[in-house]
Amino acid sequence: MVKKIITMVRKYKNVLQNVGTAIVLLLVVACGSTKKQVRIVEDFNKNWNFKLGDYPTAIQSDFNTADWRTLQLPHDWSIEGAFNKDNPTKQAQAFLPAGMGWYRKTFTVPADWATKTVSIEFDGVFKNSEVWINGHLLGKRPNGYISFAYELSQYLHFGKQENIIAVKVDNDAQPNSRWYTGSGIYRNVRLVASDKLHVAQWGTYVTTPEVSKAKASVHFEVTVENKSDVAKEFQLVTSILDTNNKEVANSKTIEKIGANTNVKKVHNLNVNKPKLWDTENPNLYKIVTTIYENSKAVDNYETPLGFRFFNFDAENGFSLNGVPTKILGVCLHHDNGALGAVENIHALKRKLTILKEMGANAIRMSHNPHSLEMMQLCDEMGFIVQAEAFDVWKKKKVANDYSKDWDVWHKQDLEDFIKRDRNHPSVIMWSIGNEIREQFDSTGIAITRELAQIVKSLDKTRPVTSALTENVIEKNFIYQSGALDLLGFNYKHEDYKDFPVRFKGQKILASESVSALETRGHYDFPADVNKMWPPKYNAPFDGNKDWTVSAFDNVASYWGTTHEANWKTIKKQDFMAGTFIWTGIDYLGEPDPYPYPARSSYFGIVDLAGFPKDVYYMYQSEWSKKTVLHIFPHWNWTAGQEVDVWAYYNNADEVELFLNGNSLGKKAKQNDDLHISWRVKFEPGILKAISRKDGKVVLEKEIHTAGTASKIALVGDKQTIKNDSYDLVYVTVSITDKDGNLSPNSNDLINFEVSGGGKLVGVDNGYQAGLDSFKASFCKVYNGKCIAIIQSNGKKENIQLKASTGNGISSATIDVKVE
Ligand code: GAL
Repeated sequence: MVKKIITMVRKYKNVLQNVGTAIVLLLVVACGSTKKQVRIVEDFNKNWNFKLGDYPTAIQSDFNTADWRTLQLPHDWSIEGAFNKDNPTKQAQAFLPAGMGWYRKTFTVPADWATKTVSIEFDGVFKNSEVWINGHLLGKRPNGYISFAYELSQYLHFGKQENIIAVKVDNDAQPNSRWYTGSGIYRNVRLVASDKLHVAQWGTYVTTPEVSKAKASVHFEVTVENKSDVAKEFQLVTSILDTNNKEVANSKTIEKIGANTNVKKVHNLNVNKPKLWDTENPNLYKIVTTIYENSKAVDNYETPLGFRFFNFDAENGFSLNGVPTKILGVCLHHDNGALGAVENIHALKRKLTILKEMGANAIRMSHNPHSLEMMQLCDEMGFIVQAEAFDVWKKKKVANDYSKDWDVWHKQDLEDFIKRDRNHPSVIMWSIGNEIREQFDSTGIAITRELAQIVKSLDKTRPVTSALTENVIEKNFIYQSGALDLLGFNYKHEDYKDFPVRFKGQKILASESVSALETRGHYDFPADVNKMWPPKYNAPFDGNKDWTVSAFDNVASYWGTTHEANWKTIKKQDFMAGTFIWTGIDYLGEPDPYPYPARSSYFGIVDLAGFPKDVYYMYQSEWSKKTVLHIFPHWNWTAGQEVDVWAYYNNADEVELFLNGNSLGKKAKQNDDLHISWRVKFEPGILKAISRKDGKVVLEKEIHTAGTASKIALVGDKQTIKNDSYDLVYVTVSITDKDGNLSPNSNDLINFEVSGGGKLVGVDNGYQAGLDSFKASFCKVYNGKCIAIIQSNGKKENIQLKASTGNGISSATIDVKVE
């Protein structure tokens, strides 16, 4: 087995590229000039058996799994099921099945691990997991979002004899969430073998008490654990490596530790001329901890490090490294669209890249702990993170939610959440809750104080916040606790102007804004009439019969507002640290206020498949440094029909619109306008826009009326794939006319076939009310487009995806080279 372990010396960045997908990893860290022995971190995702249902005897070694599936984690069984109106998950959880399931795995470990501490690490299991090793119960963890580990050493067979690990996952009591959770071991699992003398789980804590361009000081705490029966003397070495993996500081001390105990040690270091971490240059350092016993390295541990300082100010909002910076954020739920809750670093990277291109610099991780990979990517890609612990405390929102586990588990869950993520430079604030029920009664005061105290006991360097709602915020009990460092307000942007007076001296953030609705590529006219949908609580459905919502930014929930109205307000208010838009990307479940068959949200700036809706370009024109000219809608209408044409643009004085060569006039944004528009009598042909500055052309954009649909266009988000059984390629599938113009109304059904080293793991068209499975081998394009997600199947073979309709449109293929 040991031979199977791939030994690597990796830069932190490389580890990041691989860790999410959990390759077999043995860290050998260079310390000084010699390479020393290390802890073993092994991918434990492969070769699990799984079956839906309850199998208490599966903990026994003689249990027969012949009729169980073999699969690779991460796995979400809900996304594999069929949408059904009667599923007890209901609409908030996308009408997908939940229930109970068991996972079981047989494995051996090398004989020489008998002298080591061996643990299993779960990044997240939804939910109520119970884990047994060789018939011994290791523990139960109700919270489906929390990372946890169990030590296995004392129950393991070493050498040739097999071990059995069994995991029961109980997601049966429904409904238990206001959004789609997924079911199963949906995040990565690792096996870790370390010396008996080692750095404890999440055993490091780094802070940077002073940071300037000239110098930074580093305060580093390490908890060392001695699991052996003898006291030990050891050398503790802390080495700071810069972005090029070059050592820039180190500290070495001789320490003592008793038998079967742990000790906390502190090293203080200085780094000259640190490269600062910010959202444009996310310079990442790392700290390598090495423990030496009798001059032999026995354990290594890496901690991310970013040098940055920030400030929330009651009058001037947020600043990062002394630079006033608006938090331009989006809220995200944890699902990966067609992959369900299955965590995959490539899926995350794609989502974050789309949002970065839009100009977003911050993510609110709604409303629960997100994955390790998500945190690592935010460090690496430069996103400010609001990490959030809870959506409910003691008082429930839905029948079987976390309130049931609150009394027993909230302290440990909150502590573990902070301990896992407090070293990430991207994490700038801790949210202890979203729209918590206790804000409306006086019990909220004591709980807020208790939670804030727990956070502060583990990290004093970041503000504690909570996302509040209330008609009269002053009456909000969470606010009244006085325990929040930063007030998060959800919605009601029209009230913000009075906040500096009402909340004098308070630091304020729009923790959640907008909740406007759009369906990608669908347009209703006229576009300039704003609509509240629903107009009030529980109003009967009166939307479009096909459950679409116009993509002109003019339909918002009654508790929210349009994107433009919100941004116009926020951008003018210096005291407001920033805004988190609900949401960056559509998510599974909670399509509220739309009824069945709607099964995913309408609130995303980007649809569930990852295609930007038009309002994406409004943000891009305001938030990013890119030069933007975006005109919409498409140009396939009925002759004579009045069509509203909108343009989002920047870096120009005016935009001129032409239809078939005839000017329809120049327009420019007035005052605080965020778009310009024309009302045009439709005639087929070419709609063209030109933006100009000082009379010079900045950008040109054309939309052509599409002719008969005749081709399929396939475009991959990358040309190559790693044969590691985790890597993904997202292929955009479009139906076009013979000249390559998108057929904007096409809903043709495409069949997919994949050959070679890959398999189809998901399809999606972003339509919120589609009930075809995300796991089907076909997909109907929606408004001309869908995606096919291909995953490496581990074979070192090039992949070909074939797409065909069988209705006269020519089929197409795309090749993906294996790396
Ligand atoms: C908010 C809530 C979010 C989501 C959103 C939908 O009030 O915090 O979780 O439900 O409404 O508009």
